[in-house]
Amino acid sequence: MAINSLSDTAFKKILSENFTPSATIKTPERLFGRDKALITIDRAFASPGRQVFIYGDRGVGKSSLAETAALLHQDSADAPIYVACANSGSFAEVLTAIGNATMDIAKRVELPGATGNYGASMLGTGINFKPSEAKRISLPDAGTLSGALDIIRYVLSKRSGMQVIIIDEMERIGDPKERAKFAEFIKNIPQLEERVRFIFCGIGTTVDELIGAHPSAGRILETISLEKLHHNYLWDIINNVANKTGILVANEMFIRIGQISDGFPHYVHLIGESMFWSAFDDDQIVTAMAPRHFKAGIAGALARAEGVLRQQYQKATRKTKNTSDYEEALWSVADTTSDSRQLSEIYESSYKRIMLKRQRERPMLTKEVFNQRLLALKKDGHGAILKGYGSGWFGFRENIIRGYVRLMAEQEGVELGREIR
Ligand SMILES: Nc1ncnc2c1ncn2[C@@H]1O[C@H](COP(=O)(O)OP(=O)(O)O)[C@@H](O)[C@H]1O
Ligand SMILES: [Mg+2]
Repeated sequence: MAINSLSDTAFKKILSENFTPSATIKTPERLFGRDKALITIDRAFASPGRQVFIYGDRGVGKSSLAETAALLHQDSADAPIYVACANSGSFAEVLTAIGNATMDIAKRVELPGATGNYGASMLGTGINFKPSEAKRISLPDAGTLSGALDIIRYVLSKRSGMQVIIIDEMERIGDPKERAKFAEFIKNIPQLEERVRFIFCGIGTTVDELIGAHPSAGRILETISLEKLHHNYLWDIINNVANKTGILVANEMFIRIGQISDGFPHYVHLIGESMFWSAFDDDQIVTAMAPRHFKAGIAGALARAEGVLRQQYQKATRKTKNTSDYEEALWSVADTTSDSRQLSEIYESSYKRIMLKRQRERPMLTKEVFNQRLLALKKDGHGAILKGYGSGWFGFRENIIRGYVRLMAEQEGVELGREIR
């Protein structure tokens, strides 16, 4: 125990409540920088028949915004219904899951054949199971539009007050025919009672990408393009815990954590969590974060980052030869936040600087060989971690990976993303 004036349990509680690298956020107090989006959703829901569609990069905070907004608008007697689409899933599966969410799991398991078997999870508590109520229920055919609408009517008949239904991870519905069914369903939501609202979420740069181009679905949807979090909101995540634990965090550390995380809160939660634990484990009484705690934050973040990020990095770089070349090439691309950068610019202003820092250990590639490494990183053999934007232009396929690349470089003593202040 190395923190003044806080018990072990109190400290642990603060950390677990405020650093959630792998869990979504459900309360507005912890949802930093999304006030405007919450107001947009509030107004959309005040407008008859309007539904919400949130889209953006993986990891920007779509599910957190949806869940927070849902809890704010949902009638408090029940938890909002939350359904995540499955890989190559179908419209019918998702609608069946929504219907199932109003039934207790015991009822569905103990009466086999009662409903479809696709799982839905609930935010907060589920519904109480009363054995005397058990009866065989079969949901309408979720594959048809009228059946789908009936399922929602059934849900509404079971619950009173405002009901918010979240349909998350729409990008997993790959089949255009299934996507079209969602678009058709959205167009017909106005047939339902006013007291049901939907929040759809998906990874994408447009809504059309996720449900196809359907102009009348567009009139019903309030679309929210969710952008990366600004640095001051990333800092709030750490500052919040710094205030509660009474540990001072220097400005320079805030700035560095913001730069590494590049707008993606996952990394801030990860670094923060490990950094504060290392302060907690310190032999001395800690009143201010020291560089050793920051270092532990970086190492801990790398060790505990989402597995897919680590796998992507390893798939891109761990090859029989030239592993370090690939790493340095990735670090170079991740040095600034631009979505796409031109070969010469990456080489001249990032790669050379990085290699000068590593001078003694590593030889510098020529621009031609460097270009070959970048081109290889676009290929499937390297997990297509980079993508091209016309000849000689490169960017990351998914923006969230930039933070992981920056963490790896940081651990090797190479600081990236210094441009933003
Ligand atoms: N506004 C926010 N403020 C602080 N942390 C956030 C915020 N939005 C998301 N997070 C955190 O970021 C991570 C990713 O959020 P999530 O909602 O799952 O993103 P997405 O659904 O877009 O992939 C989670 O660890 C979550 O706790
Ligand atoms: Mg999500």
